[in-house]
Amino acid sequence: MSRRRALGLAAFFAAVAGIVGGNRVPTHSVAQESGTKVPFDHAIHAGQYDMPCLGCHVYAASSPSAGLPSVRKCMGCHKFIAKDKPGVQALAALFEQGQPPRWVRVTRLPDFIYFSHRMHVRSKVACSDCHGEVKAMHMVVPAAQLTMGRCLGCHGERNATVDCIVCHK
Ligand code: HEC
Ligand code: HEC
Ligand code: HEC
Ligand code: HEC
Ligand code: HEC
Repeated sequence: MSRRRALGLAAFFAAVAGIVGGNRVPTHSVAQESGTKVPFDHAIHAGQYDMPCLGCHVYAASSPSAGLPSVRKCMGCHKFIAKDKPGVQALAALFEQGQPPRWVRVTRLPDFIYFSHRMHVRSKVACSDCHGEVKAMHMVVPAAQLTMGRCLGCHGERNATVDCIVCHK
């Protein structure tokens, strides 16, 4: 594994650890110990500029988790783009300090449920079927509760499994 990739992965796992470890703030932004916040707007990136979901959530087709982009990935563009925006300056400061962002988690199933993005993305279930129109969201909000009824409703329609032990650990 190259050093670059190792760093990217480290940032990714640190980001996940940040989510799991709490330190939640009531906004969907990047926060840091110092309190710096970096807004992230899907309506600009995925909406206005039409960036593909899988370009940032790169694990969604191959793993249980969709994954979140590293700051390095953001900086690939923001070394050059919108450098005068305060949000981008805060982002650059995080990057320089080697601080992984702590993203606020929005969608969360109970621990006793097994869920994987992989089969869903491969079976061409749209992100929006579960997450709503993220493209239009300035801040990600849960579109609808992902209850068992919701899972089973679609599984029934799409001839997917309704066997208890497939979803229940
Ligand atoms: C430029 C990178 C980028 C692109 C493109 C992008 N996202 Fe994201 N996404 C992020 C970041 C960063 C976060 C964490 C911050 C946040 O919640 O806004 C995130 C968070 C999310 C979340 C919230 C996850 C949770 O905690 O529940 C969902 C859902 C999501 N993205 C779906 C999508 C979908 C669907 C698309 C395509 C329409 C998309 N994203 C395109 C970077 C991106
Ligand atoms: C593929 C290139 C690309 C990537 C990757 C990217 N951005 Fe952007 N970002 C843009 C563009 C284009 C704009 C709009 C610039 C403008 O309108 O002036 C933008 C705007 C922004 C802004 C300014 C919003 C405002 O108007 O105040 C912030 C903050 C930002 N991005 C954060 C991020 C973060 C955080 C990430 C990584 C999760 C990220 N960006 C990844 C291209 C990118
Ligand atoms: C069948 C419903 C479903 C579909 C389709 C789906 N998701 Fe998810 N997504 C979820 C659930 C449920 C969670 C929370 C999982 C958990 O709590 O373990 C989640 C979590 C996430 C997260 C949080 C971080 C992570 O690593 O998992 C992101 C980002 C995300 N989804 C993006 C996407 C994108 C992008 C797509 C389309 C390529 C997509 N999702 C398609 C149901 C779905
Ligand atoms: C909008 C439709 C839709 C929704 C909502 C949905 N699923 Fe699915 N699910 C599918 C499809 C389609 C498949 C793939 C069936 C196949 O090709 O075998 C699938 C497959 C699965 C699998 C089997 C994966 C494997 O290893 O074979 C699990 C587990 C699963 N879903 C869990 C869930 C859970 C948990 C929820 C609710 C949080 C959910 N799904 C919501 C459509 C959906
Ligand atoms: C497609 C995935 C899926 C299948 C199949 C499934 N469940 Fe669930 N189940 C869930 C999800 C997601 C939750 C958590 C959300 C909720 O409570 O609605 C849940 C919650 C539950 C709960 C509530 C647990 C609690 O403590 O709140 C019970 C009881 C339950 N399921 C029983 C069953 C039984 C029995 C079967 C088989 C007949 C089954 N489930 C099949 C996804 C599934």
